[in-house]
Amino acid sequence: MSLAVIILAAGKGVRMNSELPKVLHPILKKSMLNYVLDAAQEIKPERIALVLGHDYQHVKEAVSDYPVRIVLQEPQLGTGHAVLCCEDALRDFSGDVLILSGDVPAVGVPTLREFTNSHLKNNSDVSFISALVDDPGGYGRVLRNIEGEVLSIVEDKDATLEEKKTKEVNAGIYCVKSSFLWENLGGLDRENSQAEYYLPGIINFCVSGKYRLLAFMLENPKEVAGVNSREQLSEAEKTIRDGINCRHMENGVTIVDTATTYISDSVTIGKDTTVYPNTYICGKTRIGQGCRIGPSVYVEDSLIGDNVEIKFSSYLTGCEVENDVVMGPFCHLRPEAKIKDGAKIGNFVEIKKSQIGVGSKVPHLSYVGDADIGEGVNIGAGTITCNYDGASKHKTVVEDNAFIGSDTMLVAPVRVGKKAVTAAGSTITKDVSPGALAIERSGQKEITGWAERKRTKKRKS
Ligand code: UD1
Ligand code: CA
Repeated sequence: MSLAVIILAAGKGVRMNSELPKVLHPILKKSMLNYVLDAAQEIKPERIALVLGHDYQHVKEAVSDYPVRIVLQEPQLGTGHAVLCCEDALRDFSGDVLILSGDVPAVGVPTLREFTNSHLKNNSDVSFISALVDDPGGYGRVLRNIEGEVLSIVEDKDATLEEKKTKEVNAGIYCVKSSFLWENLGGLDRENSQAEYYLPGIINFCVSGKYRLLAFMLENPKEVAGVNSREQLSEAEKTIRDGINCRHMENGVTIVDTATTYISDSVTIGKDTTVYPNTYICGKTRIGQGCRIGPSVYVEDSLIGDNVEIKFSSYLTGCEVENDVVMGPFCHLRPEAKIKDGAKIGNFVEIKKSQIGVGSKVPHLSYVGDADIGEGVNIGAGTITCNYDGASKHKTVVEDNAFIGSDTMLVAPVRVGKKAVTAAGSTITKDVSPGALAIERSGQKEITGWAERKRTKKRKS
């Protein structure tokens, strides 16, 4: 099948009430337009023409990774006009054209495949997706005669009260022979309440019997819900989120509460991992098997191995965690944190651009930045790598099996040798030799009877 795709994305999206062009509004950290572009790419068309207009530069930058022919529609005179603007981009193409809307983000690839196949099988000139919905407000209504044949599509703004009752709506997705398009688009007029060239007007050219028309009715109308408002954006988010969660559950992931689990479509999760409620997993994150994530955990752009436990209220971005690691509650792993096998990161611990070696522990209240921590190291509570001198960052190295006493300040650049120990409360400014104890404290004084004297003085005054 020779197929080209046109994506309509030139409109402003007035009803979003936003500075951001409508099609760039994100759902689970990916813009609506990106969903549509990804779906379009998956069906492997010969080419994709993307119609842009409103805030053209901004949208163009956002899609710069996609191999699309950008068509500028200026001014935006309606969806029919938008398709007409693609004539040059598709001049040497003679197959079928699948037309998608940038604001219908939840449509699935299987549905698009089924739709285009039906279009072909039926040898249609024009096919469109329709859906039966409970609340058809805002959509174009599909009008049929008593024999059930499609007569036309009437826009919400042009419909009579009687027509508005129709619950079959136009989803804004079409498959059309390109010869039909270029012969007929010029015949559309603007005689409607919005003075626009309506793309659904092409249906009217079919009723003469000259062309074959197919209305492809969908069972799951949620998939083709259009987004014109923030409320509809939220509904589309739910549809997409449910779809992603379902996919993971089919793959053997337990999701305890799908209503509060937010996983971006770029994420992969291994079998027998459990995701607890109120958890966000996004970006290019990969999670292994048998992990326990959450509740209330945020993971972005991170690689997590197998059998990792990330406990309550932990926040991870751009980090790498190997297998059998236990983290949190309340830990913060920042970019380039690398946690090796079997390490433990406890509560109120922040780690940035540092490696924590195999089996090492940072159990409580520590900041580890720009550090290389070896294997079997214990970092005592309250330890801080003082990595920043106000001008530049410096490195801390703690070699294998060293023991860092509680409340140690490691003033970088500094190195603590193998099996060395730092005494609690020490400010370490010089390298510590392997096996040595470094202690940096003023001697403890005692003033005999001081407490009793103070109490007596207080009573007298
Ligand atoms: C459109 C359909 C309606 C259908 C609904 C499905 C028309 C006239 N109406 O209505 O029958 O039920 O979608 O969601 O087509 N666009 C352009 N250039 C323009 C105008 C719009 O590229 O000049 C783009 C928009 O950016 C958007 C898409 O076309 O991505 C649809 O436009 P929109 O204004 O949202 O149409 P609806 O009123 O939702
Ligand atoms: Ca719309």
